[in-house]
Amino acid sequence: MIVLGIESSCDETAAAIVNDKKEILGEALLSQAEHKAFGGVVPEIAARAHLEHIDNILEQCFAKSKIKMSDVDAIAASSGPGLIGGVIVGVMTAKALSIALNKPFVAVNHLEGHALAARISNDVRFPYLLLLVSGGHCQILVVKDVGEYERLGTTIDDAAGEAFDKVAKMLGLGYPGGVAVEKLALSGDETRFTLPKPLIGTPDCNLSFSGLKTAVRKIVETYSPDGDIAHADIPARDVADICACFQYTATDCLCRKLSRAIKYFKENYPEGKNLVVSGGVAANTYLRTKLQKLADENGLIFAAPPIRFCTDNGVMVAWAGLERFRKGYTSPLDFKPRPRWPLDANAPKAAGAGGVKA
Ligand code: KG4
Ligand code: ZN
Repeated sequence: MIVLGIESSCDETAAAIVNDKKEILGEALLSQAEHKAFGGVVPEIAARAHLEHIDNILEQCFAKSKIKMSDVDAIAASSGPGLIGGVIVGVMTAKALSIALNKPFVAVNHLEGHALAARISNDVRFPYLLLLVSGGHCQILVVKDVGEYERLGTTIDDAAGEAFDKVAKMLGLGYPGGVAVEKLALSGDETRFTLPKPLIGTPDCNLSFSGLKTAVRKIVETYSPDGDIAHADIPARDVADICACFQYTATDCLCRKLSRAIKYFKENYPEGKNLVVSGGVAANTYLRTKLQKLADENGLIFAAPPIRFCTDNGVMVAWAGLERFRKGYTSPLDFKPRPRWPLDANAPKAAGAGGVKA
């Protein structure tokens, strides 16, 4: 079984071909550089760039794979949630290929792409506990099966990656900022500033990063003569300390709420063995190390996708498409791309597109 996957929901234009032996037959990815000057992704620029690059990305992907388009058994695309202009480009391309090749179309929830990515290179079986941390989402879920999720908690404001990006922007580290913050934090003192841990005491698995971001802003303001962070002049040593303190605090918030979730998971899913992290922030080695420790302490096996499959990519979409397709879940050609699409509304047998059993 061979599935092509297309990703275009944010600022990566990507495609990949995988088979059911977990082999990646081909892949191509372009991270759009056009957004750097704006300090964030500009939706219209992203949509136009996807349109410009998608054909070329598909050509590169097939050239590397050495298989023909007609060898593919199904065509999957990230069909939401995401920036709708880009999502439409990927979905329309996949539908066009589906018609031309007479092969089924599989609408993949982008979050399901992240959620299942750890299963490509690890022996992770259902059910498992998942921390999904990306630029747009921050959720703790039980992955019960393909298309079956129980959401235990979510951020009530900013996503974790968004907080990394905003802190990086305040410190003048460019966009996206997660990697830069992680790198500088390596040489910083994580005990120098005490930052707030919002929602940490609430008896649930919800998270909040907005107050933490504001606390960093207040520190940055003290380095500016006029209180405007655009004019802040922060010594390199202090930038590193701020990065380390932010990363420590954000990670601690995630780990504490995960501890609660682990308790629930072990009580309600005693057969579950894995703690999994995925999404762009899962590329953070500091976070991965803390999660490994948390899993060890609780008798769970920690698993994460290889770092390059944490941030958006075509392989995770192709793989999620394959997991859906082999269960018989395909989507009609009138499937409407969804700017919003909660993962726990992704039930495979639900009426309507995205959950249709073939
Ligand atoms: O999953 P992703 O590529 O896109 C979304 O679906 O949102 O995640 C991108 C996010 C960005 O906010 C980026 O700053 C963050 O992941 N990120 C990181 C690291 N690498 C990427 N955050 C912290 N540490 C990293 N090493
Ligand atoms: Zn993503």
